[in-house]
Amino acid sequence: MLPLYICSAIFTLLYFAHVQQPTAAQITAPWEVNALRAIRGSLSDPNGFLNNWNRGDPCVANWTRVICYNVTAKDDGYFHVQELQLLRLGLSGTLAPELGQLSRMKIMDFMWNKITGSIPKEVGNITSLELLLVNGNQLSGSLPDEIGLLPNLNRIQIDQNNISGPIPKSFANLNKTKHFHMNNNSLSGQIPPELSRLPSLVHMLLDNNNLSGYLPPELAQLPKLLIIQLDNNNFSGSSIPPSYGNITTLLKLSLRNCSLEGPAPDVSGIPQLGYLDVSWNQLTGPIPSGQLASNITTMYTTNKACAMNSKNVYNK
Ligand SMILES: *[C@@H]1O[C@H](CO)[C@@H](O)[C@H](O)[C@H]1NC(C)=O
Ligand SMILES: *[C@@H]1O[C@H](CO)[C@@H](O)[C@H](O)[C@H]1NC(C)=O
Ligand SMILES: *[C@@H]1O[C@H](CO)[C@@H](O)[C@H](O)[C@H]1NC(C)=O
Ligand SMILES: *[C@@H]1O[C@H](CO)[C@@H](O)[C@H](O)[C@H]1NC(C)=O
Ligand SMILES: *[C@@H]1O[C@H](CO)[C@@H](O)[C@H](O)[C@H]1NC(C)=O
Ligand SMILES: *[C@@H]1O[C@H](CO)[C@@H](O)[C@H](O)[C@H]1NC(C)=O
Ligand SMILES: *[C@@H]1O[C@H](CO)[C@@H](O)[C@H](O)[C@H]1NC(C)=O
Ligand SMILES: *[C@@H]1O[C@H](CO)[C@@H](O)[C@H](O)[C@H]1NC(C)=O
Ligand SMILES: *[C@@H]1O[C@H](CO)[C@@H](O)[C@H](O)[C@H]1NC(C)=O
Ligand SMILES: *[C@@H]1O[C@H](CO)[C@@H](O)[C@H](O)[C@H]1NC(C)=O
Ligand SMILES: *[C@@H]1O[C@H](CO)[C@@H](O)[C@H](O)[C@H]1NC(C)=O
Repeated sequence: MLPLYICSAIFTLLYFAHVQQPTAAQITAPWEVNALRAIRGSLSDPNGFLNNWNRGDPCVANWTRVICYNVTAKDDGYFHVQELQLLRLGLSGTLAPELGQLSRMKIMDFMWNKITGSIPKEVGNITSLELLLVNGNQLSGSLPDEIGLLPNLNRIQIDQNNISGPIPKSFANLNKTKHFHMNNNSLSGQIPPELSRLPSLVHMLLDNNNLSGYLPPELAQLPKLLIIQLDNNNFSGSSIPPSYGNITTLLKLSLRNCSLEGPAPDVSGIPQLGYLDVSWNQLTGPIPSGQLASNITTMYTTNKACAMNSKNVYNK
């Protein structure tokens, strides 16, 4: 039998060998673990989908719907959360500000739950965020300016909530954002002309809000724009900027029931335009058939002052 002091020395050696191995403690960054606990704590999860969020380590024990990077980070040696995939879990409650601590997250997905409260401004701290998906909840409050600082955001999907207040001017900095899905909320005020700086924007969906003011002519400068939907807002008495006839990339222009006046747009220079809806406005006169692209398949132009007569066109 070895003397006790030798055992002790061996133990000490083994102990230090163990802790000095950088690969020995492969765990999730402790601040991210705390953040996940806080996120879970401010949600209500009646079906218990997130019950394992109190057992072991999130990235090691595979907490439900938490996707981690598959290797520890070179700079700090910890695992980090890459995605939160919390769609369609019947969750209610609110979004915790601690979400901002998940600073390496790329996908934040809370779609189709019953979450209330507002989008925390701390989401603006998640500089790696690519997809912000919270559509189909009951969120209210206004959009934080801080979201406009997300340099990697590809898509902002907040549609079908009850978010109010203006579209922040800071959103004009979202250089990588392709999709603005903000329809069916209570957004109000002027569409910021500054949004014309967005180099990647493809879908501008702002229909079914409470927007007012005028339609910014500058939006014609958006180089990649395919879809504009602004239906059911109230731009009381403004006209459709002639520059919109210059958005040669457009596939769809939908301005139904927007309280617009003045002449109908000349869209003859938009070769791929397949869908045009300017109905339920007070436009003066019809769209001359010479001002239509040959490819148009769906078109609504009728209202009190304006009728349309063309074989390719559906009146409504
Ligand atoms: C977590 O998932 C990984 C990869 O899918 C698997 O190898 C591991 O055994 C899982 N761990 C637990 C505790 O379920
Ligand atoms: C880890 O992820 C990277 C990048 O997503 C991938 O290329 C690699 O194959 C993955 N490794 C394992 C062991 O899953
Ligand atoms: C996170 O965001 C808040 C509010 O936007 C800010 O005050 C704070 O400094 C940020 N924290 C970090 C670590 O960036
Ligand atoms: C949505 O928000 C608006 C303005 O904040 C409010 O008047 C309205 O009652 C809300 N609607 C719902 C369904 O919560
Ligand atoms: C977006 O791009 C413009 C022009 O390239 C640049 O001046 C600006 O700093 C960029 N903004 C961000 C937030 O990266
Ligand atoms: C958006 O709101 C409009 C008008 O209230 C409604 O007709 C439409 O179904 C809504 N869209 C969605 C996707 O909920
Ligand atoms: C819509 O905006 C107007 C101001 O432009 C405001 O008076 C009205 O209460 C808003 N309506 C809703 C439903 O938010
Ligand atoms: C037109 O939009 C207003 C809100 O701006 C809405 O109250 C009204 O129901 C809409 N009318 C039609 C015909 O869609
Ligand atoms: C649009 O707004 C104007 C001015 O605020 C108002 O007079 C008009 O009734 C509104 N129209 C609709 C359809 O809400
Ligand atoms: C459309 O674009 C052309 C060429 O860039 C320009 O000369 C013209 O003024 C523009 N028209 C409108 C209405 O903006
Ligand atoms: C009409 O659409 C077809 C198929 O989408 C496309 O190939 C063609 O170039 C379009 N015509 C014009 C005039 O742009």
